[in-house]
Amino acid sequence: MRDTKYYQDLIETALKNYLPQGEYREKSLIDSMEYSLMCGGKRIRPLLTLMFCELCGEDAKIALPYACALEMIHTYSLIHDDLPCMDDDDYRRGKPSNHKVFGEDIATLSGDALQSLAFEIMLSESAVEAVSADRAVKAAYTLSKYCGALGMVGGQVIDIESEGKSAELEVLQEMDEKKTAALIKAGCEMGCIIGSADEKKIKAAREYAHCIGIAFQIMDDILDVTSTSEELGKPVGSDSDNEKSTYVSLLGIEKCKELVDELTDKAIKSLSVFDNDTQSLSDLALSLANRKN
Ligand code: IPE
Ligand code: IPE
Ligand code: MG
Ligand code: MG
Ligand code: MG
Repeated sequence: MRDTKYYQDLIETALKNYLPQGEYREKSLIDSMEYSLMCGGKRIRPLLTLMFCELCGEDAKIALPYACALEMIHTYSLIHDDLPCMDDDDYRRGKPSNHKVFGEDIATLSGDALQSLAFEIMLSESAVEAVSADRAVKAAYTLSKYCGALGMVGGQVIDIESEGKSAELEVLQEMDEKKTAALIKAGCEMGCIIGSADEKKIKAAREYAHCIGIAFQIMDDILDVTSTSEELGKPVGSDSDNEKSTYVSLLGIEKCKELVDELTDKAIKSLSVFDNDTQSLSDLALSLANRKN
């Protein structure tokens, strides 16, 4: 497997090319989509799609439409997450949040449009031709399941409805599984589907994604307390301002750090069923557990 920079460059170029090109009356909408999509996210989810695809023996490039579709869904979730009716955060990816620049109306619609563009790309003639209709449909079905009412959107509902309460650990587990691990699972599973992996490998990828996904949200909650907005590119202290229930508010930072390490260990162990070299995916899990932003 190549280094992550190779995959990240592929993702940046493809994302830009998938945005509508040319002059349209809906210029404000397209500018708003581009503003949030092209302003420097870490690209973890699409990276996982490309890496799992290659681990399963296919060229990562054929998974690009699925990787980019996932990043579009993730970006839409962030635009909506920052709206005044949700977390009310004014800063994202190192710049003013989408609604601060384009207004709440365009920001809402730009999230909606990024979501439909994701499905348009996965089911486009060129994407389907490259991977076969069977794999294209399976991948698109997987993403739709993980981003919907019982996936990411459902997790966001549990998050909102847990504000101002001390939620039980079981509720937090379900919330983080849905709002964050679900899209990470979508990334890993779509990579395996495009790589024609068997059920045993898909199951292992799901377990890896579950573990790094929960660890990812716990780290996000830790950084909300310990980092600075300059380093994160988004506000700190947002969770306590909104009286959010998080692993950190329930268990404290030290216990959370232990949990992140345990989950990372478990994620790495789950990769043992793959025949090819999984070092890059182990390194990625470790780097996410030690991330600073
Ligand atoms: C932020 O995700 C939202 C969470 C699920 C914690 P990322 O930390 O991946 O955000 P970007 O894409 O790098 O901006
Ligand atoms: C957001 O969780 C998860 C989704 C957007 C689905 P957070 O609200 O903690 O994410 P940040 O901290 O704003 O990035
Ligand atoms: Mg939120
Ligand atoms: Mg938020
Ligand atoms: Mg957060």
